[in-house]
Amino acid sequence: MSIYTSIKKPIISLAPMEDVTDSVFRQVICSVGKPDLFYTEFINVEGLNSKGKEKVIHRLKYDVVEKPIIAQLWGINPENFFKASQIVSDMGFDGIDINMGCSVQKISARGCGSGLINNTELSKEIINAVKEGSDGLPVSVKTRLGWKEYGVDSWIQFLLEQDLDVLTVHGRTARGSGVINANWDEISKCVKLRDEMGKSTLIFGNGDIKSLIQANEYVNKYGVDGVMIGRAAIGNPWIFTGREDIAMNERLELFNYHLELFKTVWGNEKDFNSLKKFFRAYIYGFEGAAEIRESIMKCKNIEEIQAQIPSVFPLINKI
Ligand SMILES: Cc1cc2nc3c(=O)[nH]c(=O)nc-3n(C[C@H](O)[C@H](O)[C@H](O)COP(=O)(O)O)c2cc1C
Repeated sequence: MSIYTSIKKPIISLAPMEDVTDSVFRQVICSVGKPDLFYTEFINVEGLNSKGKEKVIHRLKYDVVEKPIIAQLWGINPENFFKASQIVSDMGFDGIDINMGCSVQKISARGCGSGLINNTELSKEIINAVKEGSDGLPVSVKTRLGWKEYGVDSWIQFLLEQDLDVLTVHGRTARGSGVINANWDEISKCVKLRDEMGKSTLIFGNGDIKSLIQANEYVNKYGVDGVMIGRAAIGNPWIFTGREDIAMNERLELFNYHLELFKTVWGNEKDFNSLKKFFRAYIYGFEGAAEIRESIMKCKNIEEIQAQIPSVFPLINKI
């Protein structure tokens, strides 16, 4: 049975984020409050099918506590997508998501990620290759509203014709100018089009969601079946609990757990500097917080950071 039939709607998920949502961060989130669904960071299918496989395979590492979890693939060659889907389905993932939305220049310029927007011929081949290789796992696409212009009646319609299990729409174009905020009215049009077409594809909306309350409001307002939350989780690993009253002691405890887990899971495999983006989530909201963050930014390893944590307690006890 597809994972999407067993999860209660709306489905609130943690967005895939390269160098952010690895197994460690997902487990940190699990320890306080899990979303309905996780995604891996995207993994390149060409890399996964090359001799350099060992360099990218860490992106598919997960622990069972993170289930249900979807593996996200990106690339250009349908044959590689087929083989990658076989690998992923053998690894016990709950579904496969195809990235057709990444707007990073070096990826889209190669025709990958958002470079696939409006390339319907290749996109169709890729989707079919993943379906063939997935051994019955549900297949989804994460994309944007269009390349430069909104393309609900073109690009999104094409994707809905592919009978995907889920279509996640990030409410921006890849190269459009002007509109900075995600356009949820356009996301809502995707839902309306899906209904008009009589398709059963679930539609998840994505873009600029700051809290669980807002996610649920947007489900009601825009009719989506789920919401994917990205950047807001970096600064708030508690986001899926809906709690706003996180005491500083609790923050520091989770910070320490995050650091410990990083050592256990990655050892020396990953650069500890990738943890720096999380410091603000744990150390803020008291006098001296900025100075402490600045000081731990200079640390040369995790032990040095942990050695500084006790110096925070006298400061927070003054609050
Ligand atoms: C640091 C970073 C890395 C990202 N990596 C991926 C990725 O690997 N795959 C993907 O589909 N989107 C990726 N995205 C896009 C997010 O999944 C999401 O679509 C975007 O951040 C908008 O959602 P938000 O406003 O909730 O952050 C990334 C975004 C950020 C900020």
